[in-house]
Amino acid sequence: MSEKMRHKKTINGPRILLDMFFTRIGHYLYSYASRLDEDAEAIFLNYGYADENLKLELREEDGKNRYCIQLYNHIVTSLPAELKGLDVLEVGSGRGGGASYIARYFYPNSVVGLDLCRRAVTFCAEHYAINGLSFVCGNALNLPFQSKSLDVVVGVESSHGYPNIKQFFSEVDRVLKPGGYFLLSDFRNKDCIGLLREQLRSSGLKIIREETITPNIIKALELDSERRKELIERLVPKLLHKMSMALAGVKGTGAHMSFVTGKKEYLNFVLQKP
Ligand SMILES: C[S@@+](CC[C@H](N)C(=O)[O-])C[C@H]1O[C@@H](n2cnc3c(N)ncnc32)[C@H](O)[C@@H]1O
Repeated sequence: MSEKMRHKKTINGPRILLDMFFTRIGHYLYSYASRLDEDAEAIFLNYGYADENLKLELREEDGKNRYCIQLYNHIVTSLPAELKGLDVLEVGSGRGGGASYIARYFYPNSVVGLDLCRRAVTFCAEHYAINGLSFVCGNALNLPFQSKSLDVVVGVESSHGYPNIKQFFSEVDRVLKPGGYFLLSDFRNKDCIGLLREQLRSSGLKIIREETITPNIIKALELDSERRKELIERLVPKLLHKMSMALAGVKGTGAHMSFVTGKKEYLNFVLQKP
């Protein structure tokens, strides 16, 4: 259900029950995906970013995740400040590939990855052993952090599923220190982008940069399609191949085509707490 429809429906409806319903559905989907990949072959769950002019140098072990990493690299380097020495929270950190990349390449003081999916958080806590990097189970709508305690909050391809996006933005505003940054990277139906912008503006945070990166997402999905397909065919039960390919944005599926046809747009926002 689109953000716009959900917004309309909940105006008069039992909002709390709907919130719980959507949170549960998302939770089960990501928990199942996490159970299938016990050998840590899929540590990113985003669509990726491609740019023919980008020559990002990566360590050998990161090469296979190039496009997914490039999405993180793009959003983190949109920040008008260095991450070095800062305290960073990633909300919706999934299987931790992005939080690990930030911790290893940008030298922040700390990175905490937060996710609703306990299985994914347990996996991350066991899989990564990097100074300053930790993971916590929690809900984006009720962040378990003190007010004004963080320098940067990052959200990559997670917010589209939140049942109450305004609550999330208000939580980000609460936990950020004055002058701190919020980096949001996600997709929306084209007709919901105005609403998203409105919700961001009313959060108290100031939009300092907005960018549409849909062509880069389409390119990445196309270049990474065979790898995604091969992983799904090897790890996922056959019955779920079609649904998984669609979720992974394999070339030709609904997710990929929704960007190609312009139904969905992928956006990057950099916001600052005044
Ligand atoms: C598409 S994945 C992206 C993961 C990661 N950012 C990446 O790029 O690999 C979305 C993640 O958001 C998490 N998520 C969904 N709803 C959440 C919520 N309300 N609070 C925290 N995490 C949530 C899911 O469990 C999932 O791991």
